[in-house]
Amino acid sequence: MAKLRVGILFGGRSGEHEVSLLSAASVVNAIDKTKYEVVPIGITKDGRWLTAEHAEQLLRGQADKSVRSTQPTPLRAGDPEATPGAAVLARGESVVVPPEPARRESGLAPFQTDANLRRASDRAINVDVIFPVLHGTFGEDGTIQGLLELADIAYVGAGVLGSSAGMDKDIMKSLFRAAGLPIVKHVTVLRSQFERESRKLQKLVESKLKYPVFVKPANLGSSVGISKAHDRKELGPAIAEAAKFDRKIVIEEGVGGKKNKAREIECAVLGNDDPKASVAGEIVPCKEFYDYDAKYLAEGSELVIPAKISKAEMKTVQRLAIAAFQSVDCTGLARVDFLMDPKSRRIFVNEINTMPGFTAISMYPKLWGATGVSYPDLIDRLIRLGIERHEDKKRNQYSR
Ligand SMILES: Nc1ncnc2c1ncn2[C@@H]1O[C@H](COP(=O)(O)OP(=O)(O)O)[C@@H](O)[C@H]1O
Ligand SMILES: [Mg+2]
Repeated sequence: MAKLRVGILFGGRSGEHEVSLLSAASVVNAIDKTKYEVVPIGITKDGRWLTAEHAEQLLRGQADKSVRSTQPTPLRAGDPEATPGAAVLARGESVVVPPEPARRESGLAPFQTDANLRRASDRAINVDVIFPVLHGTFGEDGTIQGLLELADIAYVGAGVLGSSAGMDKDIMKSLFRAAGLPIVKHVTVLRSQFERESRKLQKLVESKLKYPVFVKPANLGSSVGISKAHDRKELGPAIAEAAKFDRKIVIEEGVGGKKNKAREIECAVLGNDDPKASVAGEIVPCKEFYDYDAKYLAEGSELVIPAKISKAEMKTVQRLAIAAFQSVDCTGLARVDFLMDPKSRRIFVNEINTMPGFTAISMYPKLWGATGVSYPDLIDRLIRLGIERHEDKKRNQYSR
């Protein structure tokens, strides 16, 4: 049987570009090469799409030493510059996905940049399915999914709606609430509102929530732009900070209150119409909360798998994780994150991540590892789910 050609899409314009390089390197390393032929497709930080002519070689060997930066990157999960993906980005050739269903089986057609104007089909890359190992903006938010829908290429993970709903903390909460899921008290405000009437906004927040509050840009990840405001004095600056990143700002009551830190429980979900939940794990951040530094820079945040919670709590978390997944119309995979009050042990659904960190040592694969699904097997299942979803969608008529 011919091998399936899997396009591994990585990098991208988001703040999580480097994390994506690491996730993609892990996938490329672990994917079953007897079943799949890997086509690496990198997206630079300014949004250009590149693939490498000698990709197989690049992927087998180490990245070219010359593309390594002299400044070692501080990300603790590895060195993104040393991944094969970095070499693709440094030496690749431009490709595009035309926003129309592929003709002549070609899903990706190179730009015709050279003088000879080679025909696109000469060096077109055919892929059967794309695994967008992209996190955050333009990767996890439905935009890339929209392009792949237009191109009619099967892809791993959530579709347009699930991705964008899962990216927007305000919309996500509305859907969680509509599904009857427990969420923390929150207020959503607009940047323009804050700029016009900050006093009124402060009153509104204080009438609905108790300090400390967490202030977040609605659409971002990796804790970028998020701060904890302990009192009125800190509220304004926290909103101003979040407003740098989005026009919509979500302000929510801090779980644990003034005295305690929230416990952070995470659960992995896998599937399409009949999703399953993994055992849940717990993150013990080394800082006051799980901010950007604690996630990527500082040593000492701990992953505890399975989470030290009761059997009943574990069941609740798993049930809520599946319900959260379904409430935003997710498919493929997602990591659902919870906040637990350490005293009352109340559990709140915090957020869903539709393309969670995916290195071999990230929480999502580790949770499935602890549930009996190995990393290569997980990749295999995700690809099948992507193809299954695409096939299922093909059954839809678009007109009578
Ligand atoms: N309501 C809250 N109560 C307590 N801690 C919170 C709350 N909201 C966020 N946090 C802390 O901030 C971190 C980042 O917030 P989160 O909503 O997960 O944003 P991101 O999408 O950037 O991961 C969480 O992991 C947690 O440590
Ligand atoms: Mg989070």
